[in-house]
Amino acid sequence: MSRTAPRLKASADEDITEILLTEEQIRERVKELGVQISADYQGRELVLVGILRGALVFVADLSRAITIPHTFDMTGASSYGPATSSSGRVQITKDVEVNLRNKHVLICEDIYDSGRTLGAIGSLLRVHHPASVEICTFLYKKVRRRAYHVDVKYCGFEIEDRFVVGYGLDYAEHYRHLPYLGVLNSRVHSPGQRKKA
Ligand code: IMP
Ligand code: MG
Repeated sequence: MSRTAPRLKASADEDITEILLTEEQIRERVKELGVQISADYQGRELVLVGILRGALVFVADLSRAITIPHTFDMTGASSYGPATSSSGRVQITKDVEVNLRNKHVLICEDIYDSGRTLGAIGSLLRVHHPASVEICTFLYKKVRRRAYHVDVKYCGFEIEDRFVVGYGLDYAEHYRHLPYLGVLNSRVHSPGQRKKA
């Protein structure tokens, strides 16, 4: 299945068949994560490292929910090929720029799916000699067989194994701006199939 650009409508909402998480639910949960992380990292030099581009929205909100002093940076990885399932290869597109030596790194990701991206980014960041590396993922997808297992310290929500968009997550680079998490109408990514959504 090739990933074709969605035919754009006047409103991106029209392509969403189901809202899984509302803006309000997300805001509340991110606030809770911020409180928890602030308590856990009290007195330690914390650096949030978000993975572009999916985690951009999450990191922006999470950082503002954390009350202790901290810094953030972004790293880049791309694993999705031209489809709604991972290509199996992770390409690192951007390294971090802040100094991570002896800092406590919290990798922030939009979704833990096959685990390849988090595995690759974890290895990349350890080269910078941080004091610790942990993972905070906005979504934890309940997939049956995971290619790569990582330990997730913080998780926003667990979701079923479905393709979702919004709150930073995209399909063909679209829908990232939606303030909620939704399920995309299958006609958008499988135009040939007449599935009832
Ligand atoms: P992984 O390497 O297979 O764990 O994939 C991680 C990346 O795939 C995430 O950073 C997302 O960009 C993308 N991804 C995985 N599942 C979804 C989804 O349901 N919707 C949109 N993007 C997804
Ligand atoms: Mg993506």
